[in-house]
Amino acid sequence: MIRMKTKMNIREDFPALFVLKDGSPIIYADSACMSLKPKPVIQALMDYYTKFTACAGRSPHMFSRETTKRYEEAREKTAKFINAKNSSEVVWTKNTTEALNLGSMILKLDGSETIIATSESHNSNIVKWMFLENAGKIKLKVLEAGETGICSLESLTEAVNECSPGKFLVSLAQVSNVTAGIIDVQTIAKIIHERDGIFQLDAAQSFPHLSIDVQKLDIDLMGVSMHKACGPTGIGFLYGKYHILEKLHPLILGGETVSDVKIPNTIKMLPPPAKFEAGLQNYGGVIAAGAAIDYLESIGMDNIHQHEISLSRVMLDGLKEFGDDLSYLGPAKAEDRAALAAINLKEINPHEVAILLDDMYNIFLRSGYHCTHAFHHQHELDQGTLRPSWYLYNTEEEVRTFIDALKEIMDTLG
Ligand SMILES: Cc1ncc(COP(=O)(O)O)c(C=O)c1O
Repeated sequence: MIRMKTKMNIREDFPALFVLKDGSPIIYADSACMSLKPKPVIQALMDYYTKFTACAGRSPHMFSRETTKRYEEAREKTAKFINAKNSSEVVWTKNTTEALNLGSMILKLDGSETIIATSESHNSNIVKWMFLENAGKIKLKVLEAGETGICSLESLTEAVNECSPGKFLVSLAQVSNVTAGIIDVQTIAKIIHERDGIFQLDAAQSFPHLSIDVQKLDIDLMGVSMHKACGPTGIGFLYGKYHILEKLHPLILGGETVSDVKIPNTIKMLPPPAKFEAGLQNYGGVIAAGAAIDYLESIGMDNIHQHEISLSRVMLDGLKEFGDDLSYLGPAKAEDRAALAAINLKEINPHEVAILLDDMYNIFLRSGYHCTHAFHHQHELDQGTLRPSWYLYNTEEEVRTFIDALKEIMDTLG
């Protein structure tokens, strides 16, 4: 059992928390967009760029050997962290968006397949499906995420039963970036697999916060962004069951994806994951992603989750004090949701509030649609919402400061 660091110790790991704005401390409440980076991750990037910058798997020299070793070690750590059967089931991508796009390459695109998604989906998990539907290549079914912020198991079962067996893919976010709802992945996987469908999980908002065991949860494909999980920008991964990765077509082709090429037109593809990692890669990013996994592991995902429930509780209690002046969707209890809320400020413009929070209180968060345009339009939130999102380095005091600042701003503007 890994010992939880004290909360102060955790904060000391994140240099950006100690940046002063106009001589005063800042509060970072935008981790659903991008997490801050701990020192070991920054150090891993520095090491790559200062001690052994090279490409992996090609040149025979020492730098390249070191890069190859660390690149593959990061893959192994990641596979172990999510309990994949094998490190070949982890494919490096830029982010979740690229991972989900790659996952979609399992489709035949002959018009016979159905995709099931939900109304609160992030654009990275709905735009592609709409695009393919418009081109006549798939049928798209979008299920409603109700008041609880997730679609009901009944509506999902009904939708799955309407699909032809073996001819559908369900692509859902484990944690919504706007409703904060958390789906029951294991039960959903069972419903999908009983009818031979493929289950793709958008884990952009869950991987940084919850422990994920891909075998236990029986996930077929899963997209992750390391930049939301203490890792560097520009790196994420697609997890896939190996037999699915074998059938998956690459998104991009080129060097490293093939074992041989001859003219006339003969190509011999490499097996997964190499066939998906075309061209020189983000080696520094991958190696630092491995350091992020080590870091999360050293804190413990269950500890992170428990800490976030405490932060959520403070936020939800604080938001109650506003009565009808604001609202947010998603589960009522802190235990059932992620530590974020997309807050509807009714008559008050969320962008103006976000700017004032930055200007006057040094509180950094996001306003707008949070890449869930469809969800915001559906709920008539056309001016957008204000979204604080908290992570392992935030304190209950910071959440309380946000609530007090929001009150002062709304009193002034309201
Ligand atoms: C639920 C969800 N899915 C997918 C994404 C896309 O992540 P990225 O932009 O890193 O690809 C995000 C990003 O905010 C998200 O919140």
